[in-house]
Amino acid sequence: MTLVAFETSCDETGVAVIRDGVALSNLVSSQVSLHEEYGGVVPELAAREHLKNLAPLAREAMSRAGVVPGEVQAVAATRGPGLAIALLVGLKAAQGMAFGLGKPFLGINHHEAHLYSPWITGSPARADYGEFEPNVSLIVSGGHTLLVLVESETEHRVLGGTIDDAAGECFDKTGKLMGLPYPAGPIIDQLAREGNREAFSFPKPLIHDGSEDFSFSGLKTSVRYFLRDNPGVLERSDGLRDLCASIQAAIVEVLASKTVRAARRLGVKCVTASGGVTCNMGLREMLKNTCAKHGLKLRLAPRELCTDNAAMIGILAERRLMSGAEASALDAEPDPGLSLA
Ligand code: KG4
Ligand code: ZN
Repeated sequence: MTLVAFETSCDETGVAVIRDGVALSNLVSSQVSLHEEYGGVVPELAAREHLKNLAPLAREAMSRAGVVPGEVQAVAATRGPGLAIALLVGLKAAQGMAFGLGKPFLGINHHEAHLYSPWITGSPARADYGEFEPNVSLIVSGGHTLLVLVESETEHRVLGGTIDDAAGECFDKTGKLMGLPYPAGPIIDQLAREGNREAFSFPKPLIHDGSEDFSFSGLKTSVRYFLRDNPGVLERSDGLRDLCASIQAAIVEVLASKTVRAARRLGVKCVTASGGVTCNMGLREMLKNTCAKHGLKLRLAPRELCTDNAAMIGILAERRLMSGAEASALDAEPDPGLSLA
């Protein structure tokens, strides 16, 4: 099957062309610099940018894939969760394209696409579902921190999630306190590589509470108080690096330890992770070590597919349609709060 997929749930405009489980093209136009001065994503600006970029990006993705409209057999887009007006752009464009071509349209749950992205490998990105096994999956991004039991390709159960800030938000907000630009996550990751993670001690919220929930707002507050009480730390040449390493260590230790504990509690032999924060080298390392220590297999989404992209949407959509899923209505509305049912 040849399928075109759109992703516009937040601040990345994504278009991918998928054929038989392979991403023939997968383009992302990032809006990070547009939102930087506001310290976060502004929904209206995100939607306007999607409107401007989506059609040229789709043209480019089709041209790179060597696919003409007459060859497209289905169109997919993210239906939710995400920012309502941002989702609207990709969803309505996909429905319009499907209507024009007389082909089926499928709306995809963004979180489900993240759940299955660790089963995509290689370059070009290719579905590797043959290897699928039940797993505990961590979805960790700027908007979400979720632990999910994935029992089969279509059955999953949310085990827990954040009760306040998402882990990516914690990276971004503590970065802002340190004077770093938005999004601070990748910069903290970079600086932490040369810092001492034991230089300062920060709380690891809910690490031992036995639940599968997370909480990161207390960590952010403790960084605020630390900076108030130690204003000189950022002036020392190694102060910022040590601070980044210490904050990152607290975040990734909570994420890795709770994910692995959930897998062990449920007797699941495999752990997976995806979402923007899974790009973090400290988290990747910590998950690798903790899983190895407990004899668990680990599958991390490829770094280029951790952040939002249309390949994960399209590969899942094609898989669903090939397994007999019914097409979605051509007037289906975005669902900003769509949950993982
Ligand atoms: O999945 P994503 O692109 O978008 C959503 O939030 O849905 O994730 C973006 C988030 C931001 O909070 C960003 O700071 C964080 O992922 N992030 C990272 C890294 N790369 C992206 N956080 C820590 N280390 C990184 N290397
Ligand atoms: Zn996402």
